[in-house]
Parts: sequence; C-alpha cells; structure tokens
Amino acid sequence: MPKYHDNEIKFEARQRNVDIFRKLTGLYPIPIGRQYWTLCNEQPKGPGSEIVQLIDLGLLTVDQFHGVDKDVNKHGKESGIIRRNRKWHPNAHWYRGDWIATIKEQTMQGKFKPAMIYLDTTSFADYHIASNMVGATMMRCPSGTVLFANVMLNDSHSSKRFDEEALVRNLGEQIPSFELDEWDTDVQTFSYNASGFTNMLTHAFFKRGKS
Ligand SMILES: C[S@@+](CC[C@H](N)C(=O)[O-])C[C@H]1O[C@@H](n2cnc3c(N)ncnc32)[C@H](O)[C@@H]1O
Repeated sequence: MPKYHDNEIKFEARQRNVDIFRKLTGLYPIPIGRQYWTLCNEQPKGPGSEIVQLIDLGLLTVDQFHGVDKDVNKHGKESGIIRRNRKWHPNAHWYRGDWIATIKEQTMQGKFKPAMIYLDTTSFADYHIASNMVGATMMRCPSGTVLFANVMLNDSHSSKRFDEEALVRNLGEQIPSFELDEWDTDVQTFSYNASGFTNMLTHAFFKRGKS
C-alpha cells in the first residue's frame, strides 16, 4: 500500500476536498458539534498526514476527527494502524473495524454527526463494494454533510478500465428516492493519480436536506 501521508498528489486531492466542502456549505471550519469521518490508514504527526493537514487548514480541531480502518495485514492479523494513530493523536477518535459496522453502531448510540466524510476507498468504480459503502453512509448523514467518495478507474494489474458513471448509476438504483431527493443532483468529480498506477475518481455528494 502506498504511504498516503507522504504523497504530494494525495495532499493536493485533500486540499481540493476542503475547497469543495467550503464552497458547497459556505462554512470555513466544520461547525462545533459536527465531525469529520474518514477511512484513515496511518496518520503520523508530520504535515503530510490527513489529520495534520486538515487541522493546519483550519477545517477541524483534533477532537472532531474520526478515523476508521479495518487495520488488517495480508495474513488477516492486526496491522497496528489504529494503535499507532492513537499514540500519535490521542485526542482524535479511532475505530478498528469495518466502516459500515462502525457507523451503524455510532448512529445507534447517537454519536454519528458528520459534516464531512472522506470515503477514501480502494474499490473499483463498477464494483458494488463502493456503492454499498456510499449508500449505507448516505442514509445515515444529517443535512449539511459533504460526502467524498473515491473509486479506482482502472486495475493496475490488467488493462481493465472502469466506467466513470458507474458509482452514481449504482446509487441511483440502490437508494430510495426519499433519501436521494435530499442530495444535490449535481455531483462534482475530479480525478488524480497518487500511485503512478491507478487513476482515482473523487465524487463530492452534498446532502442539502429537504428544500
Ligand atoms: C486510501 S487509504 C486511506 C488514506 C487516508 N484517507 C489519507 O488521506 O491519507 C484507505 C484505507 O481504508 C481501509 N479500508 C478499506 N475498506 C475498509 C472498510 N470497509 N472498513 C474499514 N476500513 C477500510 C484500508 O485498510 C486503508 O487503510
């Protein structure tokens, strides 16, 4: 896996997310009482990590940051991501586990109050893994949430390319219309390549709420 905390292109992509959040919501920081949630990977103390970058940008304070990771190595054992993140940033919130299971549990406890989410997946655009994660997340977002979802547009091990429209199309088929109606139909996207092998496509979904 690439080192996301040490990658200029990833840094620029996160900056773009913040710019889009500010433009869509008209807010500069995430408001008090609301949170930032992300699929986190490792987040050292240096300026290249997501948590440090977003604090430096004035988007959030450390206690508004919630990082989730399944945190397993290729042998299915704990890889230590969450343990290390807790040591580096003890005042942020860290969860070891599956994304959907974690946000379901937090929602049931009344603790899931995002204003911005970075579903930074490594799933392919036309696989239902990504749309299931995005869909399950959308259903639990309060109004005023910007949900960023990343998907891979190609498989670096083959010449296979994926359809850029697939995620939005799958969501349209999967999410009930009462929920879809609360999300802006205009979905901004941008692409980047942080690894040199894989083109990523970021979607920005905005839950404006009932009009
Ligand atoms: C691209 S990295 C995150 C990078 C980070 N957001 C950043 O900007 O530096 C994606 C992480 O998500 C984790 N992940 C992928 N699918 C997951 C799932 N369903 N539940 C929990 N973690 C998951 C992976 O283990 C990986 O560490």
